[in-house]
Amino acid sequence: MTTLKPRGDLEAISPYKQGKSDLADHADPIKLSSNESSFGPSPNTIAAFKSIAENIHRYPDGSQTELRQAIADTLKLDANKIVCGNGSEELIGLVVRTYISPGDEMLLSENHFVMCPIYGRSAGADVIFAPEKNYRVDVDALLERVNDKTRMVIVANPNNPTGTYIADSEIRRLHAGLPENVLLLVDDAYAEYVTAEDYGSALDMVEQHNNVLVTRTFSKIFGLAGLRIGWAYCPQSILENVQRIRTPFNANSAAMKAAAAAIKDIEYIAMVREHTAKWQKIISERVTEMGIKILPSVTNFYLLDFAENENKSGADAAAFLESKGIIPRPAGSNSNTGYVRITVGLDDENEAVLKALAEYMSN
Ligand SMILES: Cc1ncc(COP(=O)(O)O)c(C=O)c1O
Repeated sequence: MTTLKPRGDLEAISPYKQGKSDLADHADPIKLSSNESSFGPSPNTIAAFKSIAENIHRYPDGSQTELRQAIADTLKLDANKIVCGNGSEELIGLVVRTYISPGDEMLLSENHFVMCPIYGRSAGADVIFAPEKNYRVDVDALLERVNDKTRMVIVANPNNPTGTYIADSEIRRLHAGLPENVLLLVDDAYAEYVTAEDYGSALDMVEQHNNVLVTRTFSKIFGLAGLRIGWAYCPQSILENVQRIRTPFNANSAAMKAAAAAIKDIEYIAMVREHTAKWQKIISERVTEMGIKILPSVTNFYLLDFAENENKSGADAAAFLESKGIIPRPAGSNSNTGYVRITVGLDDENEAVLKALAEYMSN
């Protein structure tokens, strides 16, 4: 039998590896590998999800009206500039396919959401990486790499896996330094967690410019990762172009129903945000006391760096946590085994992580 050869550039793409979700020796592990919400969705969201059960034989509303309106009403946005999708990652992919032609350059920060290079390369782009300073997106390093071939810049703010952010003024400086024919996509996946005063969403920039768009997700603070639902806020011209290749039912009816309820649950979201910020502070203090370097995260996860700990490594620490029934995510570039990324969990989950880390460090 002949084995079919894929297109020539496919081998340059490494497939996405999902965080682990089970452990052979632990029936009910603490899963902290994928930055999900340990709280899950709010009661109202679950009720909305259940309410559509009798209607799932119908196709979803391809114009996504109810969810777009719920988002627009809650965040005071223009519903006509919103498009929803099968997770924000689908929307990032759609925008890349809409704007990137083979041979274009796509610019990313050294740390980036792992799907971005996959989307860029599958559209035929050369993906260029700008180094970071102190684990933060470096606007100057990005701007230095812009040239005639650059078509798109994607920045997650806050970023993953570092958990760090850059100030609103820095995002605006990045945009101001880009030629008008370069598209800036600001990936706001963790925006709802951020309490820092100098942080700002780029949503309002969409009203003023034709080359900026923002993606957001219901997978994180809203607790709907399993339903796959996200949205993008785009200038009209970008939205019209994306609509040409969007599949009509890319957002399913149950996901849209649940998300329309979730976005209105302001108090629930505030509770999750406060819990997360409280634990980030506690965790940061406790692991620092243990002699572990932790990056200053504004998200629902934190990155531990074991590079300077003699006889320790991220991979090793991850294996130790797994032996205690906790699933973290080893992180960092392929050859670097220094880092481990852990999601902020519920009270007892965080205590279990701290206990296990203390044990690991004293071994
Ligand atoms: C920075 C960043 N962007 C986008 C996504 C994708 O989220 P979604 O579940 O909406 O596809 C993630 C998921 O982990 C992420 O970390």
